[in-house]
Amino acid sequence: MNITKLTDSIYYVGAVDWNIRSFHGYSTNSGATYNAYLIVDEKIALIDTVKAPFAEELLDRIAEIVDPAKIDYVVSNHVEMDHSGALPEVMKAAKNAKVVTSAPNGVKGLTAHYGEYDYLPVKAGDTLSLGKHTLTFVATPMVHWPDNMVTYCPEEKILFSNDAFGQHFASNKHFDTEVDLAHVFKEAEKYYANIVMPYGMQTRKALEIVKTLDLEMIAPSHGVIWTEHIPDILEKYEYFTNDQSVSRACIVYDSMWHSTEKMAHAILEGFSKKGVPAKLYDLKVEHISDIMTDVLKAEYIVVGSPTLNNNMMPTVASFLCYMKGLSPKNKKGFGFGSYGWGGQSAGQIQNILKDCGFELIHEPVKMAYIPSKEALKNLEDEVAAL
Ligand code: FEO
Repeated sequence: MNITKLTDSIYYVGAVDWNIRSFHGYSTNSGATYNAYLIVDEKIALIDTVKAPFAEELLDRIAEIVDPAKIDYVVSNHVEMDHSGALPEVMKAAKNAKVVTSAPNGVKGLTAHYGEYDYLPVKAGDTLSLGKHTLTFVATPMVHWPDNMVTYCPEEKILFSNDAFGQHFASNKHFDTEVDLAHVFKEAEKYYANIVMPYGMQTRKALEIVKTLDLEMIAPSHGVIWTEHIPDILEKYEYFTNDQSVSRACIVYDSMWHSTEKMAHAILEGFSKKGVPAKLYDLKVEHISDIMTDVLKAEYIVVGSPTLNNNMMPTVASFLCYMKGLSPKNKKGFGFGSYGWGGQSAGQIQNILKDCGFELIHEPVKMAYIPSKEALKNLEDEVAAL
């Protein structure tokens, strides 16, 4: 097995999930990794595990370096099962290991998932000496679960950041200097938009702490390890977390017989006339997690659906439910849609946008059956004048 070294005594022992295309509903078109790291010192520590089906791969990688039975500590930075799923198999192999996790939420979460182990609960600022290496634990609650913490090794200037700064990006190259960086930054943005966005305030706090650390590497639990590009990913996180939108419009819709689609095009033309970059997202072909990546920074989110059986279309309801949960901030928008009779959909969309805290910049727009060219031109002009 090929083993990647971070330093003389710290090893990458994680797993690459090349074929995953849905991570609990988030589309992972570039695959994923579950990164775990082994520190070999007088005491041996494993930082995080991997998703359960990859337990054997993790243990095989460790066995290339040391006998897994010699592991003294398994540090669980985060309870979620993509990082803790292999814990039962690791603990079968490392019978004397203590499980180091946050107090009280890490212990509570791991116990609920896997039962009793020899837990070593740690709080913010606690340290653990492995010999030449020290581990310092930094609490990052709600980035993005209550149990989250990150682990810093001052001697090597490495931060094991778990989900923070991660990306779903499969590669057999593990460093930022070895990959297509533009692709990785886009995946980092998608990861933030779909996983971390609801916790922007907590992430900003964590970012302030991270910026005080002397860093040569940030080793997340997904995707590449940041080395030369640490300033770039920190700058990206400053941008992602600042809750400021940029002048851009996302027009998200579904359509049955193209009438709502015609309205979407008229709205697009209106934004173009206004000088605002805009993009159409047909929910039949765009995945909601890709749309959210663009929603993160867009100022305008306009959503359309025809009326189907007195409701909006289920695809649109699904998108709105997903977007509401992710709590995008400082957005403007309105609902629109065609109808034959009834015509409830545009108003229903408008109400959900209001619940999302959006500034409503137009009344809901409804057009019966087939929108006339004149009605579409009026809509275009109204949007241009917003
Ligand atoms: Fe990668 Fe929140 O788990």
